[in-house]
Amino acid sequence: MAKDFNLMEDSNPSSNPSIHELSDPSRRTLLRGGLAGSVTGLLAPLSSLAALSGCATLGGSTPLLGFKSVPVSTADAVSVPAGYSAHVIAPWGAPVGLSGESAAFKPDASNSATDQEVQLGMHHDGIHFFKHPITPESSHAGLLVMNHEYTDDGLLHPDGMATWTAAKVRKAQAAHGVSVIEVEMKDGRWDLVRPSPWARRITASTPMAFGGPAAGHALLQTQADPKGQRPLGTLNNCGSGITPWGTYLTCEENFINYFKGPDEPSAHERRWGLRKGALAGYRWHEHDERFDASKHPNEPHRFGWVVEIDPYNPSSSPIKRTALGRAAHEGATTTLTKDGRAVVYMGEDARFEYIYKFVSRDAVKPGGFAANRTLLDHGSLWVAKFEDNGRGRWIELKHGSGPLTAANGFADPGEVVVKTRQASDALGATKMDRPEWIDIDPQGWVYCTLTNNSNRAGDKQPGLDAANPRANNTMGHIIRWKEDGDFDGTQFQWNHFVLAGDPANERAEAKGKVKGDAFACPDGLWTDARGVLWIQCDMSTSAMGKGDLARLGNNAMLAADPRTGEIRRFLVGPAGCEITGATATPDGRTMFINIQHPGESPSERSDSTTPRKISNWPDFNASGRPRSATVVIRKNDGGVIGT
Ligand code: FEO
Ligand code: CA
Ligand code: CA
Repeated sequence: MAKDFNLMEDSNPSSNPSIHELSDPSRRTLLRGGLAGSVTGLLAPLSSLAALSGCATLGGSTPLLGFKSVPVSTADAVSVPAGYSAHVIAPWGAPVGLSGESAAFKPDASNSATDQEVQLGMHHDGIHFFKHPITPESSHAGLLVMNHEYTDDGLLHPDGMATWTAAKVRKAQAAHGVSVIEVEMKDGRWDLVRPSPWARRITASTPMAFGGPAAGHALLQTQADPKGQRPLGTLNNCGSGITPWGTYLTCEENFINYFKGPDEPSAHERRWGLRKGALAGYRWHEHDERFDASKHPNEPHRFGWVVEIDPYNPSSSPIKRTALGRAAHEGATTTLTKDGRAVVYMGEDARFEYIYKFVSRDAVKPGGFAANRTLLDHGSLWVAKFEDNGRGRWIELKHGSGPLTAANGFADPGEVVVKTRQASDALGATKMDRPEWIDIDPQGWVYCTLTNNSNRAGDKQPGLDAANPRANNTMGHIIRWKEDGDFDGTQFQWNHFVLAGDPANERAEAKGKVKGDAFACPDGLWTDARGVLWIQCDMSTSAMGKGDLARLGNNAMLAADPRTGEIRRFLVGPAGCEITGATATPDGRTMFINIQHPGESPSERSDSTTPRKISNWPDFNASGRPRSATVVIRKNDGGVIGT
């Protein structure tokens, strides 16, 4: 666990460095190469991770979980264990701190699109704490980078969607994407630093680049971008990841919902969920023709990618990494092989979709992003097949190999990655129960949350298999695997870490098998520096509090000890929210999580005439509305979170 990792002088290349050192550039020394610009991640670690309190307990007998679990709750509040406190920073609409810009949030949602472009977006999701560019050893200052997955347009505008204008579409697009904010702790309390030279908003309109085998491909070319090289914006940014060279990976999930489909969608378009007419009611196509796929059929191909962002360079162009495949990407979790190549694990959150891994061709070089600018553009992409005997294998999506030929509709490597789903279908990969976040424990087990799948074994639906063993899987499960050999291994062993559920349920499939507190619909997943596995729940607002979920209250975050399997409820969120995204300072004494969509109605669009009907968290302003926000968690005695 505490082995130091330094790519420049790794004296023991035969052993994998600690997952935590590898997967978390915030725990590395970042040398400052210019105030607003070229910060270089040297990949030199802290002198000893054992300095993190509690690290030495791994493999020992001291329990990982030291807190008393919090009860189920339906309160419009955040509950944390005794001895802990939580407070809110960075809610939707707060100014991010761009120099010269200060658009204060208006509680009636009357801020303009231009205001929203310099404010935090809506529906916070994946998040990561990056070391501060000037004081990289500090656990009291840093950069928070976070996703804004989608919008509730009933809350985003004073009259919701009662009228629909180009200005509202622009505001909705500006409320999507990613925020970079600078944060610091003063007198024991964290807040934003404003203005900050690193503050940034990336939205559904920000110019970006493509990298990898599909860059410039005919399938990515549009009238506005005939070379297929310069996409605009990122959207439905759900989970996230980081790289060992100090960048952030934001993942484009349910992008197809933003498009209006043609009257007669092709088989390819249908495989990606495009249907006649508008899908999820975002109504962008009514004022922005780019989102009308009947007029711009290649525009949907320009989404569904993992996007790499350099948080230390606010003027850098985000890059969509096509070598990692196109999917309704939930997250992207990077580790390294013993010889320093990057391995990125990814889940596609949709019913009966797949789990992927990318293995880079080249080893990571010292020198931060500048030295690894194209590392994610070259390598191999694999999809998981879980066998019934506890074994599994990775099948390569390699153009020209097996069924992935021109005769079968895969003309070249670019077409394979644009049509990742069809390639995986052809290869016979295992159709999973909505793969969400992935993380890795200190023993090298790779965990993936499978949030739920009520269609499993339903009429005309795929049946049960060993990896997805429950019909009408309303509760979800967490699968884990360990590669044979190194992380680039082509075979693995697997088992279920937990079948989520509530033993009080009558339906056998919904009881689950949890050693500890009942929960359902695991989504966010994060392993901290001590090896605690944090599990975040996303029971949908249409299912919450009813049926199999009747006794589980609001969405919660739990902590698991991967050595014993014990799971304990650590936090419960306010009404109508989901809990998503987790990160901590290098000393482990401050944790940041996101509360997404407090107050969400079962339709996922609020009635603008009753914005406080379900929640008024966190402001409790009599004329305000609920707001997604980041929650800072500290232990009152200043100790490490979870102990
Ligand atoms: Fe956006 Fe898969 O949760
Ligand atoms: Ca999620
Ligand atoms: Ca989710």
